[in-house]
Amino acid sequence: MPRPGVPDPYRRKARQEGYVSRAVFKLQEIDEKYQLLNPGHRVLDLGCSPGSWMQYSASRVGSSGLVLGIDANPPEIELAPPLYFLAGDVESLDLATVRAVCPEFDAVLSDLAPKTTGVKEVDRQRSLDLALLAWQYARQLLKAGGHFLVKVFEGPDTPALVKELQAAFASCRIVKPAGSRAASREIYLLGLKKRAR
Ligand SMILES: C[S@@+](CC[C@H](N)C(=O)[O-])C[C@H]1O[C@@H](n2cnc3c(N)ncnc32)[C@H](O)[C@@H]1O
Repeated sequence: MPRPGVPDPYRRKARQEGYVSRAVFKLQEIDEKYQLLNPGHRVLDLGCSPGSWMQYSASRVGSSGLVLGIDANPPEIELAPPLYFLAGDVESLDLATVRAVCPEFDAVLSDLAPKTTGVKEVDRQRSLDLALLAWQYARQLLKAGGHFLVKVFEGPDTPALVKELQAAFASCRIVKPAGSRAASREIYLLGLKKRAR
């Protein structure tokens, strides 16, 4: 965590570059290394608000692509094509509504984060539940060859999810981007090139 009164360089950089959150630099770093997003791609962004991943994804997929964000809270960015948004709790997401916007995606991203309680085990379990839910959706909505990026608070159950992703994707990486605070237990799991069923 940045010390009180000490400016966070990522927050300042995000503001300077017109992004609504410092979270953008985590996605940017991962995308630059693994080339997840390309022009024309269709991207599902779970837990998208305030919207910096949507801003970045839109710049990568361009006007021939599509970025569909889903969140309980509205994003703080202007929504114009290629950006689309569905409001709601991911726990009761209607896949038919998602498919009506876009039948399948080249990338499913999840930066879903629970409201933390301060109780480590509770927060970790909630984060894992959200990551598993994101994986359930990705399993159904991601096209063969597509990529899946999901945030999770690292814990004893993380290896089981990694194992599932290893089976479902050509490769699976565990990533801790520089923009992720060192003190935070968050990591990102990255499944590259979903295998055909
Ligand atoms: C860390 S923020 C995402 C930041 C985003 N990637 C960005 O770049 O602006 C996590 C988001 O997950 C959302 N979220 C958490 N649980 C959710 C749920 N059950 N349903 C929908 N959204 C949820 C929160 O509302 C919050 O906006």
